Amino acid sequence: MDSWSPASWQKKPVSQLPPYPDDAALQAVLAELGRLPPLVTGWEVEALKRQIAEAQDGKRFLLQGGDCAESFQECRPDVITNKLKILLQMSLVLIHATKRPVVRVGRIAGQYAKPRSNASEQRGNASFPSYFGDMFNRPEFTASARALDPTLLRRAYDHAAVTLNYIRALTASGFADLHHPEYWDLSFFERADVSDALREQYKRTSRDIGEALRFMQAITQAKIDDLSRVEFFTSHEGLHLHYEAAQTRRAPPSDKTYCLSTHLPWIGERTRALDGAHVEYFRGISNPIGVKLSAKSSTDDVLRLLDALDPSNEPGRMVLITRFGADKARAGLPPLLAAVKKAGRRVLWVTDPMHGNTKSTPSGLKTRSFDDISKEIADSFAAHAEAGTTLGGVHFELTGEDVTECTGGGLSEADLDRNYASLCDPRLNYRQALEMAFRIAGSIAD
Ligand code: PEP
Ligand code: CO
Repeated sequence: MDSWSPASWQKKPVSQLPPYPDDAALQAVLAELGRLPPLVTGWEVEALKRQIAEAQDGKRFLLQGGDCAESFQECRPDVITNKLKILLQMSLVLIHATKRPVVRVGRIAGQYAKPRSNASEQRGNASFPSYFGDMFNRPEFTASARALDPTLLRRAYDHAAVTLNYIRALTASGFADLHHPEYWDLSFFERADVSDALREQYKRTSRDIGEALRFMQAITQAKIDDLSRVEFFTSHEGLHLHYEAAQTRRAPPSDKTYCLSTHLPWIGERTRALDGAHVEYFRGISNPIGVKLSAKSSTDDVLRLLDALDPSNEPGRMVLITRFGADKARAGLPPLLAAVKKAGRRVLWVTDPMHGNTKSTPSGLKTRSFDDISKEIADSFAAHAEAGTTLGGVHFELTGEDVTECTGGGLSEADLDRNYASLCDPRLNYRQALEMAFRIAGSIAD
C-alpha cells in the first residue's frame, strides 16, 4: 500500500467534499487550525480505545448520541446541559440493565458537517448548493448563505472548543456525580412531558444505583474515585477531511498519529468507498474509528474495509455501526455477523436504528417512528443472539429538548409541526430518548 500522510487522501477520489472557490483562503484557515491546540489528547483517545476493547469483550456497553447536525446557534449552556443530562440518564438505565459500565460518547463538539444526497437544493425556480452543515455553509436558502466559506472551519473549531470546555467543566465539578444520581433528574422531570410510569421507573432505577454505590463504598470504606465522576467522550462524522487533517498530529503517549478534533470519528454510509479519500485518511489515524454499514454493504466490502482500516486486528480499533432499517435488519444482519466472526475480526457491533428509518410525511417533513426504531433494536439483539455475537452499543440522534420530530412515545404526525427544530434528520426528544433506554433495557433482559 502507498505511504500514508495526513494529506495522502487528496490523491484519492473524494465524495461529499465540494471544492472551495478560493483555495488561498482555505489554506490560510487550515494553517491556523494546524497551529492551534488540539481539542482532545492522545491519552484520552487511548483511554477510549481501551474501553472500546473491553466493550468488544462484552465487558462494557456503548451509548453514542446527540444531534444529527449541531449548529453554532444552538451552542448554548442549556442545550448542552440538557443533552448531557439525557445521555447520563440513559446511561444510568443501561448500567442498571446491563450490569456493565457504559461508555458515553456524544455526537457533539464537532458534528458540523453533513453528507447530502443532492449537492444542490431547488425551491421554485431557485437552486443553490445544499446545506452541508455549519462547518461548510449556512442553512438559509440564499446564494450567499449557501456559498462555501472557509472561515466557518475556524468557527467550527471555536464552537467545538467551547462546547467541550463546558462539558469538561460540568463533569469535573460534580454535575454528574454518580453518588447522587437522584440529582440528575430534579427540575428536569418537572419540566419534561414524561408519563408517571416512566418517571417512577427512572426514580426506581436511580435509587437502586445510588444504594449499590453506597453499599460498595461502605464495604470498601473508601470513596470510589472511578465512580465519583463520569467520563464523557466526543465523536462526529469525519466528513470534512481538510478540517480533520489540520488537527491530525503525532502525540503522546504513543507518538502515533491521532485525529485530535474528537475522540471517536466515524466514516458515514456515503463515504466508505474502499478506494476513496475517507478510507485513505482514516486508515492512518490511531483513534478508535466507526464505520456506518447498511444493507447496501456486501459482506465482501466489509471484510475489505476491515483489512484496510485495521490490518492488525487491534483491540478497541473498530466500531461497526449498522443502520439497516427496521424492515431489513433481521434478514440482512446474520450473513454479515457470521462473516466478520468467521474472519476472526475483533469489532464492536453497534446499532444505529435511526438512519435506516427516515420517512417523509405527506407535508414533506422528515420523520422517524418510535416503533420502527424499537423494532430495529429488538431485531438487532435477536440477530446477534442467534449469530453468537454481541450487540455492544447503540447510536441515536437525540436531544434533551422537547422537540417534535419523531412520532410515537406520545407524539403523532399531527404534532410534528409544533416544535420541529432539526436542521437535518429528526431526533428523539427527551421523553422518547428516556423511554428508548428502558426499551433497550427490556431487550437486554430478554
Ligand atoms: C449521520 O449519522 O448523521 C448520518 C448521515 O448517517 P449515515 O452515514 O449512516 O447515513
Ligand atoms: Co443524521
